[in-house]
Amino acid sequence: MSKDLQLIAGNSNRLLAEAVSSYLGQPLTKASIRRFSDMEVFAEILENVRGKDTFVIQSTSYPANDNLMELLITIDALRRGSARRITAVIPYFGYARQDRKTGGRTPISAKLVANLITAAGVDRVLTMELHAGQIQGFFDIPVDNLVISPIFLPDIEKRFKGEKIVLVSPDVGGAVRARAMAKRIDADIAIIDKRREQAGVSEVMHVIGDVRDSICIMVDDIVDSGGTLCNAAAALKAKGAKAVHAYVVHGVLSGGAVARISSSEIEHMVISDTISATEAVRVSETIEQLSVAPLLGEAIKRISEEQSISALFN
Ligand code: R5P
Repeated sequence: MSKDLQLIAGNSNRLLAEAVSSYLGQPLTKASIRRFSDMEVFAEILENVRGKDTFVIQSTSYPANDNLMELLITIDALRRGSARRITAVIPYFGYARQDRKTGGRTPISAKLVANLITAAGVDRVLTMELHAGQIQGFFDIPVDNLVISPIFLPDIEKRFKGEKIVLVSPDVGGAVRARAMAKRIDADIAIIDKRREQAGVSEVMHVIGDVRDSICIMVDDIVDSGGTLCNAAAALKAKGAKAVHAYVVHGVLSGGAVARISSSEIEHMVISDTISATEAVRVSETIEQLSVAPLLGEAIKRISEEQSISALFN
């Protein structure tokens, strides 16, 4: 690992930043990212960063606007402190679902956020399972978009060894992810054809693929209200699935999502720690978190040593 590497943690997911730091054996750089009394964000890097290869770890999860502003201001502090290179490590990239115009006079907020991050002065971005891979193209700087397979697949293989499993995409948009994961473990796939009649309300239409007497493992990038997964689970059970489990990268879990999932047909759900767990998630008996720290840590190490990232997934 390059000896001028420095890790700076924002406040959005301190536990993950600490786990990355211990994976790399590299202490977090002392920094104070705090609020003035009027709630303006202020960032002060308390160690020299001149000429250093710096990585700011900050998910732009809830509260998205505060966490985004923290990221931008920390980047600015590093740039003005003469860091040699600044990489924004954004395990969960908020606003990603606003990646196209959904109607007249609506924004493409994911592009605006990409512009803001670039304007703040980063040299590159490291993120995970972007809602749409094309968001990489919203940046004109290098973006490494890690996939979750090295974390989720070994767990799936261990937990369901010898069982008849089907990997399920809960909507058509996620079919590519489900297919790619299924291919690696030689499993069948199914897809839920979902129609959203009204914004924020999801409705399951029908299941494409044979799920009867199988253990269905739904894979998705985001669980927010939980509506998509709970409805999909009910549809799978109605089609004769033996049991339904879920593996989701980013546990947004807003509102009453945890309670909704706990009382649904989903037996067990695994999420990653790209978003800091709420108390409801921590005490949930249905939801379990797997850490992406080793994967992020390894990617950071490879970036600092100018080594291939894609080799991590072969
Ligand atoms: C949609 O395209 C995403 O992949 C997720 O399925 C969606 O964001 C989940 O939202 P919710 O949990 O609110 O249904």
